[in-house]
Amino acid sequence: MYLPAGRLAALGRLDYRQGGPAARRAYAWLRGLAVAATVGMLVVLIQGTLVTNTGSAEGCGATWPLCRGQIVPELSGVANAATLIEFTHRAAVPVESTLILLLSAGILWFWRGRREARVLAPIMIVFLFLQAMLGGLAVMYPTSAEILAAHFGISLVAFASVLLTAAFVIEAAGGERIRLMAPPRALSILIWIIVCYTYIEVYLGAYVRHANASLACLDWPLCNGALVPRFVTGVAAQYSHRVGAALLTVLLVGLLLVARRTRAGRPDLYIAACIALILVVCQAITGGIVVLSRLTILSTLAHSFFVALLFGTLTYMCMHTFPLVGERTARLDSDAATRALSTTTERPDVLR
Ligand code: HEM
Repeated sequence: MYLPAGRLAALGRLDYRQGGPAARRAYAWLRGLAVAATVGMLVVLIQGTLVTNTGSAEGCGATWPLCRGQIVPELSGVANAATLIEFTHRAAVPVESTLILLLSAGILWFWRGRREARVLAPIMIVFLFLQAMLGGLAVMYPTSAEILAAHFGISLVAFASVLLTAAFVIEAAGGERIRLMAPPRALSILIWIIVCYTYIEVYLGAYVRHANASLACLDWPLCNGALVPRFVTGVAAQYSHRVGAALLTVLLVGLLLVARRTRAGRPDLYIAACIALILVVCQAITGGIVVLSRLTILSTLAHSFFVALLFGTLTYMCMHTFPLVGERTARLDSDAATRALSTTTERPDVLR
C-alpha cells in the first residue's frame, strides 16, 4: 500500500480507530505482521532445538552464509536430513529478522507515544541480535554448557518480546482497557516473582540438556528408584531441575488462587493463570516422557514448545500488571469492590 508522506505523518499521529480506511488498513497489516512474527519466532525456536537435538549443527558444513558451498544445497535423501534441518533453520532466521524489524518500525510509527512500543521495539531487536551472537558463540565454543544454556534463555526472551508486541497490537483495538483497573499489588508482585523464578528453572533445564545430564535419572517421577537419589555426576543438575519444576507448579497453583479473587475485575489475569497452570503440567509430563522415552526427538521438541508458551503467558501477565499509561486507574482489592464499581459507573478509572 503506497501513501504519500503527508498522509503517513498524519496517520502516525492518529489513533487508528479515529482514522480513515487507510489507517484501519495499515493497522490490519500490522496486526497480521505481529501474528506472523510471533509464529515465526516460535518456529525458529523449535528449529533451534531440532538442530541441537539431532546433532545437525554441522549440516551445512563449515560454510556460511552458503550451505555446503551452495545457495540451496542438495536436500533429497536420508543422508541429507541434517543438511535439510540446518538449512531450513538458516533460511528462516533472515525472514524472521525482517518481520521483526518491520514490526518494530510499525509499532514505533503507530504508537511512538506509548511506553509499550518504546520498550518492546528495542527489546525485540536487541534480543534478536543477542540470540544470533550467542548462536555464533555456541558454534565456536560448543563444549560450554553455560553458553549453550544461556542461548536458550535468550531465545525465550526474544520469543516473549515478539509475543507481547503481538498482544499489544491486538489489544490496541480496545482489549487493553481492561488494564484501567490495576490488579492488587500482592498479585502483581507474585507474578513478577514467578516469572523470574521460571527463568532460573529454564536455565537449569537448558543446563541439564547441555551438560549431558538428561538421563542422569533413568526413571520418573522417582530418580534412579529413590525419592532422594545419590548425587553422582549429573544427578544434582537433573534432580534440582525436577525439584524446581515441582516448586514452580506449586507457585502456579498459588497464583491461580490469588488471581481467582479478582477474576471479575481482571479476568485476563485469571484466564492467563489457568493457562499457565495447564502449560506447566504439560511441561512436567513432557519432561517425564523425555526421560522415559530416552530422549525421543518429539518429546524434547514438545518440552521446548510448552516452555516457550509458558514463559510467554507469564510475561503477558507481567505486562498486564502495568496500568495503561496516561490513564487514571483504580486499584482492585477484591471482587466485591469490582462489582461495586461496575454497578456505579462504566468507567472504573473515574472512581478512586
Ligand atoms: C515444569 C517445569 C519445567 C520447565 C520450565 C522445564 C524447562 C526445561 C528447559 C527450558 C529445558 C531445555 C530445553 C532445551 O534446551 O532444548 C529442559 C530440559 C529438560 N528437562 Fe525440563 N522443565 C520442566 C520440567 C521437567 C520435568 C518435571 C522433568 C522430568 C524429568 C524434566 C526433564 C528435563 C530433561 C530430561 C531435559 C533435557 C532434555 C534434552 O536433553 O533435550 N523437565 N527443561
